[in-house]
Amino acid sequence: MSSRRRTLLKVIVLGDSGVGKTSLMNQYVHKKFSQQYKATIGADFVTKELQIEDRLVTLQIWDTAGQERFQSLGVAFYRGADCCILVYDVNVRKSFDTLDNWHEEFLNQASPTDPKTFPFILLGNKVDIDGGNSRVVSDKKAREWCASKGNIPYFETSAKEDYNVDAAFLCVAKLALAND
Ligand code: GTP
Ligand code: MG
Repeated sequence: MSSRRRTLLKVIVLGDSGVGKTSLMNQYVHKKFSQQYKATIGADFVTKELQIEDRLVTLQIWDTAGQERFQSLGVAFYRGADCCILVYDVNVRKSFDTLDNWHEEFLNQASPTDPKTFPFILLGNKVDIDGGNSRVVSDKKAREWCASKGNIPYFETSAKEDYNVDAAFLCVAKLALAND
């Protein structure tokens, strides 16, 4: 299979502290979930290989710190990103309200060639909590936000119950590949 091209795709995950960025990545890559919260400091990546049609793809997924005091990322960190995953917690209004900032921060730092078509994806995480009874951001609100940013794909996820995690990252890989 040496004729197959292997493609490295850089993906950056952003969002408020505690929304579940690290948990989503752990569930996707290691099929593990921990209830314990351990703040991410700085940034680190995991990789996952997958096949999309005849392409071998290595997703290099960069986890970042939501807590401001642990953020220390320069422009170089964002450069060359092929996709940006924005995450919020459907049970925490503020984590939805700050999406504009994360979106803008990414575009400012990464300065993609065409900001209007750069692939973002939005994940509304922790839909498992209280059977959905404690959610404060509706699916409709989230989709409206996505539409206002140029039709960003939206997935509701649970890192805890492994709900929609594979589907979301497959979408990420396809978006990133199309943008590569
Ligand atoms: P920072 O590293 O500070 O930016 O936070 P983070 O976005 O990486 O959040 P993290 O993945 O560490 O998760 C925060 C807390 O939420 C942890 O206690 C997780 O166990 C919990 N958590 C994450 N995802 C889910 C989920 O889908 N459902 C539930 N019930 N809890 C979750
Ligand atoms: Mg983290």
